[in-house]
Amino acid sequence: MTISFFSTQPYDQLFFEEFNADFGFTLRFYEVALSADTTNLVHDSEAVCVFVNDKLDANVMAQLASKGVKVVALRCAGFNNVDINAAKEHHIKVCRVPAYSPQAVAEHAVGLMLTLNRKIHKAYNRVREQNFSLNGLLGFDFYGKTVGVIGTGNIGRAFCKIMLGFGCKVKAYDVIANRDLEAIGVEYHPLVDILHEADIISLHCPLNEQTHHLINSETLQMTKQGCMLINTSRGALIDTPAVIDALKSGHLGYLGVDVYEQEEKLFFRDLSSNIIQDDVLTRLSGFPNVLITAHQGFFTREALTQIALVTLQNVKDLLKDGNLSNKGTLLA
Ligand code: NAI
Repeated sequence: MTISFFSTQPYDQLFFEEFNADFGFTLRFYEVALSADTTNLVHDSEAVCVFVNDKLDANVMAQLASKGVKVVALRCAGFNNVDINAAKEHHIKVCRVPAYSPQAVAEHAVGLMLTLNRKIHKAYNRVREQNFSLNGLLGFDFYGKTVGVIGTGNIGRAFCKIMLGFGCKVKAYDVIANRDLEAIGVEYHPLVDILHEADIISLHCPLNEQTHHLINSETLQMTKQGCMLINTSRGALIDTPAVIDALKSGHLGYLGVDVYEQEEKLFFRDLSSNIIQDDVLTRLSGFPNVLITAHQGFFTREALTQIALVTLQNVKDLLKDGNLSNKGTLLA
């Protein structure tokens, strides 16, 4: 049985080939993203394996079905890029890896916070140039500050616990409150209260119709002067031009993002010799109080191991009898 992988990088091949020894699939790796233009690469494949920026709309689903694809395996947690209804219509099973390492993403969010606050990226460069001055590197204590967490699922929960360890007040908003988190000191509040009270806001909810541009000019106005905004979830949770206005006016104090609304044209590639045509991203990169990483929150050895093992097991189970042994990963 064959799995065709799209949007692959050398590390995908490395981890999947290592763990496939126990599964015995034929693995085909394509660097290009899966879209209507690239489905022609799929042949004699029972399954395709995709990542965050592959676009699986109704047209792509129809083409995959016509080529005999039975399973779409997402090697990620988010699934906003897949038309689940179209998959059901074409009897294609869709699975994902819901919690390969929530800690990896939560820890990266904290890394963005610490770097922005204490300007570690600037200090690193200064010291390498024998500039030992501290001017311009002043930060603030996270201890005692209020951290607003939007979405307390797997990643949000891990993030809340780290923030409690820092001695922060953790206030959360989610459509469902988590009693275990409440028991250890996390307070749930309506979204507007979080926006008004938080010194730092970190987004950990999925991208859907309710959360699209959750951070916009209106909600930004409700945030505290100088607030720090962290987004490791999905780019379109943020209306980026509105965020740029808030940074220009000085209302938003810091921005740390691992995701970007237009990232599929840029991220996961070396474009260092290209002229970037995306003026919004280049404007964003020009602010001294903005830190952008290219969707690397998931990128730890532990997470890649889990992604490979769970994805291969998902495909094996779905091709065998349609039942998953990994609970909670079936979407269609
Ligand atoms: P999850 O499904 O465990 O948790 C999501 C939480 O958001 C749930 O508690 C849910 O009730 C809540 N939620 C849903 N709608 C909401 C709304 N309108 N307002 C507030 N909360 C809402 O997901 P998990 O694993 O914690 O991942 C969160 C997101 O992180 C994913 O959707 C994905 O987009 C992103 N992600 C980013 C990665 C990266 O490398 N940067 C890696 C993995 C995930």
